Amino acid sequence: MNAAMPDTFAAWRSARQAEIEQALSRFVPDQAPAGLGEAMRYAVLDGGKRLRPLLVLATCESVGGLREAAMRAACAAELIHAYSLVHDDMPCMDDDVLRRGKPTVHVKFGEAQALLAGDALQALAFELLVPGDGSLPDAMSARLCRLLALAAGADGMAGGQAVDLASVGVALDQPALEAMHRRKTGALLQASVTLGAATGAPASATLAALTDYGAHLGLAFQVVDDILDVTADSATLGKTAGKDAAADKPTFVSLMGLTGAQAYADDVLARAHDALRRSGLAETATLHALADWVGQRRS
Ligand code: IPE
Ligand code: IPE
Ligand code: MG
Ligand code: MG
Ligand code: MG
Repeated sequence: MNAAMPDTFAAWRSARQAEIEQALSRFVPDQAPAGLGEAMRYAVLDGGKRLRPLLVLATCESVGGLREAAMRAACAAELIHAYSLVHDDMPCMDDDVLRRGKPTVHVKFGEAQALLAGDALQALAFELLVPGDGSLPDAMSARLCRLLALAAGADGMAGGQAVDLASVGVALDQPALEAMHRRKTGALLQASVTLGAATGAPASATLAALTDYGAHLGLAFQVVDDILDVTADSATLGKTAGKDAAADKPTFVSLMGLTGAQAYADDVLARAHDALRRSGLAETATLHALADWVGQRRS
């Protein structure tokens, strides 16, 4: 990466983040019965790094995909993520009171409304992928829905969350911990890359390389999340630090210590960069920079 890259990437990122914010605000309704829209907008807007949508858009740009489809897929991935956070924070899961620097949705609106806001955000994610006005080709809509469903479901995020809850107080070995992280967090990040790819028509070797890139980046992301839970403070994180040890969750830090976990994250991110180099794509600077961002993030 050359020295000019960080500025170029920062400019790209803030421009795309602004577009994502606008699109999310347009797509998430304020009019829904009994205050549900307010809870949905609270869960989605005004916060978050928007890493998943950025990955969708960057991959679309790399493969020369359909921009309209990419913005819809970007928002759909973020809605699944936002829903997963609402439910992750509920008392029956991680029991957190702070998210994105604000009280969690169940603290602000009550548990039943938080549950329903998550449900409605998940449904809205799929609605976005099927616009109904012919603006996306049917086959592309179907493919995007399938990729997102696989990432969100039992073999992806929801399954990973089930393993996470079943693993409290359990010393998972590295393969088991890796399998949990690949599901609960990695699957949606990997899908963000493959969703972006599905807005275009990359060659199969390119798609395979991008899929590997997404898998490595997704795993590294959760390893870094485990590290930040120990090293960062709640104000910087916008969520309560130190929760994993307090809840006796197995993490890469509990398995390998801080230095070992950081070395592991670096190693996995190096594999993400390698995968991109095999992609055969001409424009990969933004995807490389996103992988660097995952490794360097402080919140
Ligand atoms: C936090 O995700 C939850 C995990 C999947 C580890 P992010 O760190 O992407 O959270 P936001 O979207 O920036 O708030
Ligand atoms: C959450 O993992 C993963 C999902 C929401 C799917 P964590 O429980 O580690 O996320 P944080 O640390 O609360 O953001
Ligand atoms: Mg959790
Ligand atoms: Mg949590
Ligand atoms: Mg965490």
